[in-house]
Amino acid sequence: MSASTETPFKEQPLLEVRDFQVELITDAGIIRAVDSVSFSIHRGETVTIIGESGSGKSTTAMGILRLLPEDLAVLSGTVMIDGVDISADPKAIDKVRGKTLALIPQDPMTALSPVHSIGSQLFEAIRIAGAASAKDKDALQARAVRLLEQVHIPTPEKQLKKYPHQLSGGMLQRVLIAIALASEPQLLVADEPTSALDVTVQGGILDLLLELQEQRGIGILMITHDLGVARLISDRIHVMKDGSFVESGEVQQIVDHPATEYTRSLLAAVPVLGPWDETPADARGAHAAGGSSATTTDPALTQTGAKP
Ligand SMILES: Nc1ncnc2c1ncn2[C@@H]1O[C@H](COP(=O)(O)OP(=O)(O)OP(=O)(O)O)[C@@H](O)[C@H]1O
Ligand SMILES: [Mg+2]
Repeated sequence: MSASTETPFKEQPLLEVRDFQVELITDAGIIRAVDSVSFSIHRGETVTIIGESGSGKSTTAMGILRLLPEDLAVLSGTVMIDGVDISADPKAIDKVRGKTLALIPQDPMTALSPVHSIGSQLFEAIRIAGAASAKDKDALQARAVRLLEQVHIPTPEKQLKKYPHQLSGGMLQRVLIAIALASEPQLLVADEPTSALDVTVQGGILDLLLELQEQRGIGILMITHDLGVARLISDRIHVMKDGSFVESGEVQQIVDHPATEYTRSLLAAVPVLGPWDETPADARGAHAAGGSSATTTDPALTQTGAKP
């Protein structure tokens, strides 16, 4: 559903983070996992936080979403989501999380309940989003099918009856994206959405995100340790080390002219992905719906949407 009225004043960022800090209270003492980071994301933009393991990427995302345990994480700084200051009023996050803002969790294999069908988990998300009532089974089913179609899952009616173990990792990641989209969010936070997937499936998921962004103008906060992923999808990159941004800028600037040795080492760790505008479609897997490379077959998912 597109907005019925266009407001010319929507220039405020979808997400604005200022001097954000997270201190974790651990047995070994207090760790400043996130140290005064600032960034913003506008509609239609992808901003990536990249950094080595333990640099504080997930803590930043989880802190912004207020998903860290309150008694163990001390947050400070300002977080504005679509103009709403959620740092001043912690309860305000409940109004935006799962609505304006949705999270694509990291591990598709564990993020879904193994004992509930894909359909029932998607219906629940739709119900929570208020897009259909639990009683209106037909509306729930229609919306669920539509969401699975949007993420290019073939034969959605059949997939709804399946359980997570019956789907490939790529398919499950698509289901998680469908669940995130149930609320028609304006901002997606994707914490390593492809790192559990093999490289061909990864390309399909990244293209899907770019396509959704093109269609809906959503903003994306991408978290990755992979500069190959970052350069495909990002407008801007923030390079994180020990809780701080050591370097920030346009994607091409960072990739072509890294200012720090640390960024150069991240660059050096990237497997060669080929030239800027990407791999041929015939390098992808064969048809095998439900099989391990099922998501690589859709020609609409080849990496044509990569950011220049
Ligand atoms: N539950 C925890 N208990 C203690 N320290 C933690 C905990 N979670 C995170 N930390 C600390 O916070 C730092 C940042 O962790 P975080 O998970 O945000 O890193 P990351 O950049 O997401 O890493 P990865 O790429 O491995 O996901 C870690 O180095 C660790 O010291
Ligand atoms: Mg992490």
